[in-house]
Amino acid sequence: AKPRVVFSGIQPTGIPHLGNFFGALLNWVKLQNDARPGDRLIFSIVGWHALTLPQDPRALSTARRDMLAVLLAIGLDPKRSIIFHQDSNPNHTELAWILNCLTPMGKLRRMTTWKSRLAASRNANDESEVDESLLNAGLFTYPVLQAADILAYKATHVPVGEDQEQHLELSRDLADIFNRSFHADGPTFPLPQHVITPSRRVLSLKDPSSKMSKSAPDANSRILLTDSTSTVKKKIRSAVTDSITGITYDPQTRPGTANLITILAACTGEDTLAVAARYADKGHGALKAGVADAVEEVLKGPRAEFERLKGERGYLDMVAREGTERAREISEETLRGVRARVGL
Ligand code: ADP
Ligand code: NA
Repeated sequence: AKPRVVFSGIQPTGIPHLGNFFGALLNWVKLQNDARPGDRLIFSIVGWHALTLPQDPRALSTARRDMLAVLLAIGLDPKRSIIFHQDSNPNHTELAWILNCLTPMGKLRRMTTWKSRLAASRNANDESEVDESLLNAGLFTYPVLQAADILAYKATHVPVGEDQEQHLELSRDLADIFNRSFHADGPTFPLPQHVITPSRRVLSLKDPSSKMSKSAPDANSRILLTDSTSTVKKKIRSAVTDSITGITYDPQTRPGTANLITILAACTGEDTLAVAARYADKGHGALKAGVADAVEEVLKGPRAEFERLKGERGYLDMVAREGTERAREISEETLRGVRARVGL
């Protein structure tokens, strides 16, 4: 099989929660650990994307370093993967600009992420009025920056959630538009494909009709990867369930209970139905205690490693610097070809 180039990114907007872990980050570690000789793995902390929404500069700066520590703490290894800050490699923005100039506006207007931003900024009284102070140009074109993130490394495989599938399709479109516009000596970019990885959707502990999210106002609705043992216990104990006796796995009628089962199963690697069977004639108290133990088992290693790494600022800076150097070397080669083809 041909060597694969895997690329994925995560925004430095706070410590990841269990949803981010089971939906995305754990798959990065698996891809790394299952990589074949010759495969290239590139994982990026995408600070430029974070700027599309207002950020407190000091919080962003801290979140940026914390995210690197989290990625290392969960098992990404700088010897096997290139781990770096997107915002320290200007090749991303240079390629994004060139791609912006090849991107039809209509394609960006059709992005569901843009449409939901636009909807959210509509005046409540007059639907035709958009409050433009709530929108910025970065919000409109960030899918192009995302395409540049991927194409700068000629990535072939991109592990992303379903919510990002439309953006990945745009990346393929832009790769194809570029290839057909500038075909001097064969295509410049491979068309990146979606890596389907077994991932689990984790729901809010407080409102199991929505996903666990870092932006939900109630901090008790999510478990962060660095939460202490007692915080984890407390959050799980206060999770919303139902008053039905016994435990069954039924996401439709018992979403809160099913979510706890999902979390437990994700932690132990079991099937949800096997977990449900184990707790069939027990109550929510027993299930919650089991979930708390399983989460603790998963988090205790990464949490301790995160705390250790937080004190190793010199080491973190070195990892970031070396990652950026390796990333730049690869993307610079891509950009040399791109510049030559467009005539710059
Ligand atoms: P959030 O929604 O908390 O802001 P992001 O949008 O930054 O999280 O998502 C980062 C990654 O984590 C994406 O790949 C996304 O699909 C995944 N992810 C986010 N929330 C969940 C969840 N509750 N369950 C599973 N995966 C999730
Ligand atoms: Na989000």
